[in-house]
Amino acid sequence: MKHLLFRLHLFLMGMLVATATSYAQKSPDAMNRFIDDLMKKMTLDEKIGQLNLPVTGQITTGQAKSSDVAKRIRAGEVGGLFNLKGVERIREVQKQAVEESRLGIPLLFGMDVVHGYETIFPIPLGLSCTWNMQAIEESAHIAAIEASADGICWTFSPMVDVCRDPRWGRISEGNGEDPFLGAAIARSMIRGYQGKNMSRNDEIMACVKHFALYGASEAGRDYNTVDMSRQRMFNEYMLPYQAAVEEGVSSVMASFNEIDGIPATGNEWLLTDVLRKQWGFDGFVVTDYTGITEMTAHGMGDTQTVAALALNAGVDMDMVSDAFSSTLKKSLKEGIVSMETIDVACRRILEAKYKLGLFENPYKYCDKARARKQIFTKEHRAVARKTASESLVLLKNENNLLPLAKKGTVAVIGPLANSRSNMPGTWSVAAVLNNAPSLVEGLKEVVGKQVEILTAKGCNLMSDNEYEKRATMFGRTLHRDNRTDQQLLDEALAIAAKSDVIVAALGESSEMSGESSCRTNLEMTDTQRFLLQELLKTGKPVVLVLFTGRPLVLTWEQQHVPAILNVWFGGSEAALAIGDVLFGDVNPSGKLTATFPKNVGQIPLFYAHKNTGRPLAQGEWFQKFRSNYLDVDNEPLYPFGYGLSYTTFSYSDIHLDKTSITGKEELTATVTVTNTGTKDGAEVIQLYIRDLVGSTTRPVKELKGFEKIFLKAGKSKEVSFKITSELLKFYNYTMEYVTEPGEFEVMIGGNSRDVKKTGFRLEPLIP
Ligand code: NOJ
Repeated sequence: MKHLLFRLHLFLMGMLVATATSYAQKSPDAMNRFIDDLMKKMTLDEKIGQLNLPVTGQITTGQAKSSDVAKRIRAGEVGGLFNLKGVERIREVQKQAVEESRLGIPLLFGMDVVHGYETIFPIPLGLSCTWNMQAIEESAHIAAIEASADGICWTFSPMVDVCRDPRWGRISEGNGEDPFLGAAIARSMIRGYQGKNMSRNDEIMACVKHFALYGASEAGRDYNTVDMSRQRMFNEYMLPYQAAVEEGVSSVMASFNEIDGIPATGNEWLLTDVLRKQWGFDGFVVTDYTGITEMTAHGMGDTQTVAALALNAGVDMDMVSDAFSSTLKKSLKEGIVSMETIDVACRRILEAKYKLGLFENPYKYCDKARARKQIFTKEHRAVARKTASESLVLLKNENNLLPLAKKGTVAVIGPLANSRSNMPGTWSVAAVLNNAPSLVEGLKEVVGKQVEILTAKGCNLMSDNEYEKRATMFGRTLHRDNRTDQQLLDEALAIAAKSDVIVAALGESSEMSGESSCRTNLEMTDTQRFLLQELLKTGKPVVLVLFTGRPLVLTWEQQHVPAILNVWFGGSEAALAIGDVLFGDVNPSGKLTATFPKNVGQIPLFYAHKNTGRPLAQGEWFQKFRSNYLDVDNEPLYPFGYGLSYTTFSYSDIHLDKTSITGKEELTATVTVTNTGTKDGAEVIQLYIRDLVGSTTRPVKELKGFEKIFLKAGKSKEVSFKITSELLKFYNYTMEYVTEPGEFEVMIGGNSRDVKKTGFRLEPLIP
């Protein structure tokens, strides 16, 4: 009911602010005529001008900084700006473009609105653990409402890079390791941002990134080389990008990495053959930050050469490099690029502006009244709190230590116990960092006077001061404490002694994941592990509230700590959401979307791996001359799809309505799920399929369906999945997308490891 009321609220707000008509609703012919007319008036410089996206504002990444932007805007040399915050500033700049440039072409205003604007939702990896597509769509919709109310019409999101290497810091920005789930999330995000057709002024243009394969950077090191077979590419990595295109995403960002030896930014096969010709993408392609000039360091030639390479490959807009503006005219004269190619790129940028309705009303997104009313509202924050609580993953709960009773004294100890700025998580560029309550503040709000909350820092983030500086950039400092380790510990032990329960708030700081935040050691830092050991020695019950932007190695913690709640970085309302779960107002239901390894050496470790010719026998952890390690078994610490609840669920055997299908027939797989515990709760039912024999080797299982259900204690529900031959398709050796007849295994369960199994046959079609 509450949810429905909220949707109604959003709808009514939208009605108030939506523009009456939109260009997008007019015919494509009208758009083409408008752009034809405009382009006839444009000089070559003005056309090239549309292809530039300089950065402004407080937030910059990468190496380049653009200057003298205002002059360039007036000269018609800029197509858009990004990371400029504030509706009044944006209106002012738009005014320069519209009223002071020769043709008055409006600018695009972009921003990294990645998991919320000022109301911040969990980092994408956390959000994906909700497995709740409606909540994910709503998070993007709220982000769009707030961003658009503040002048932004374009977000560089969703990031859909499949990643199987948690050393890579940017795993936090994506949806984990699975392409099927990633594709579903990509669709939800795009619907949430763009709405039906971006005609309303609270719908903004999305940009799917980073195209492509960025999550497979070698050794988990950012910006590093990517190299993989076409089969792996299309069976395991491409699906989320393709789903975004099918969902109508209006822009695509090229990735930093190379693909088959050619950087994505200059890769015609990728940006034209696959994206446009195979998938039918009709929006525009923007590079990543200095993506064009970085091709020089890649070894692809000087600025003029790489700019021409990018344009000819299918790039339309140059983010920050200023390579198009400085070389394309010369390249045109020399015949390295054609006028037609420049025209096509320019047209695509103008089309985006037209579809957004900016020609009709350049100030469509510049309504100060909206900015006052629609940003960081109570309603938005309530949704963010609920969504954050759904993203938390309960990893361990010995003897039902959680939920905590709302009584007595709780000591909240750790470097992350009382930080506001670290709550929102990486890539929350529009966040007002002081807005998010710290964990201690949030817990106090949740428990009121019922529980006494004490707190101490306990230790610094790590002993290495320089490392801590690198891990707390962009205003996310943890205020390194100058007291000695012993003094910090003594203070913590003193409050622990007065408490009934210890909540250890440990893990990563928010900037230990995200861009350029890769790590080779994924264990708890030295100081925090030591603190945890000392807290456990007190004999008091210890709950580890684990902040992290990636799967960490928690082998020691799993052995020694009775309860572990993984809270990721849950956004502006994270602290309240954690309180809701810790004290039992919300039953946790998050399920991991990336495997947690037992040690770093197992990486890449993911559930949908191949079997090899020498798999281990079931239940074994080492056999000589089998595919394994001497020092650790092959199993993850926590598998994909895993997450506990305060209740328990049982699964019946799988019932199939048929044991074989042919051609277009479908079969239904059904399980009955029962809440066998004493608390109401939600469960994510997961369908996996294995193709037992193929013309190429096939993964041991692949996610092919999921459904999140809510069950009252003691109640049961039947959950069914339809299986069609379409669901069984894959790219074969010659890259045809085929279904091959034969035996398939069907698995259903609450995570990728603990599943019920049965099988069916796909019969060949008799011609
Ligand atoms: C670099 C990042 O890779 C990309 O995700 C982001 O959108 C741009 N910088 C702009 O900030």
